[in-house]
Amino acid sequence: MSLLNELGKKYRTDKSTDGKRPGDAGRGHDYLRMYERFLEADRHRITSVLEIGVQRGASLYTWQDYFPNARIHGIDIAESALRVTGDRITIRLVDQSDAAALEQFAKEFGPFDVVIEDGSHIWDHQITSLQVLLKHVKPSGKYIVEDLQTSYSEQWRGNADQSAIQYLLQCVEKVLAGSHLKRAKEDRFMAELNDLVDSVMAFRHAAVFFRRP
Ligand SMILES: C[S@@+](CC[C@H](N)C(=O)[O-])C[C@H]1O[C@@H](n2cnc3c(N)ncnc32)[C@H](O)[C@@H]1O
Repeated sequence: MSLLNELGKKYRTDKSTDGKRPGDAGRGHDYLRMYERFLEADRHRITSVLEIGVQRGASLYTWQDYFPNARIHGIDIAESALRVTGDRITIRLVDQSDAAALEQFAKEFGPFDVVIEDGSHIWDHQITSLQVLLKHVKPSGKYIVEDLQTSYSEQWRGNADQSAIQYLLQCVEKVLAGSHLKRAKEDRFMAELNDLVDSVMAFRHAAVFFRRP
């Protein structure tokens, strides 16, 4: 039995298997079973978690129970998120599309052992948040991007000229190729990616970047 999945069911986050039907359908994303594979070993050592996207706090309460020694930071743009409270939960109003605001937040409250990005699901917000926050993840920490299925629907495009999945696939190629990949032009994040990350894991609707030790 997966403790993390059971906690997710208890707090009714859609990251659990609840409502998930075989194949691709159903409400549950079934992320937690996957996350437990790489979070369980360090569960008691993790001291700082950030989730982008608080809503009613279902996942923040899940993290608070699962990581007994961690402060759980949540950021959101909706003031209603401030109603989510807990002994080890801190909520701030920060817009994930605002790179400067994210940077300022991370300088004040980071670095983080785990970042979970479950905010607007808009392509350029997903990309900007990764670009800004990956360097604020601790060595051996994890950065998770959720709801990547939105890359297949124009309604989530925002101001992006490519989808989040297209960008992440370029990241994966970079990790796979190492210094053998010579691109004529790449952004600063991509240029520095292999210094920060030693692996990327992909599964249904989400991906995880693993920081180097
Ligand atoms: C899917 S819900 C989060 C669910 C929560 N993580 C859970 O599992 O219980 C997405 C949240 O992202 C917030 N959001 C939307 N746009 C945002 C932005 N630009 N920056 C930060 N948060 C945003 C919404 O207000 C909403 O509360």
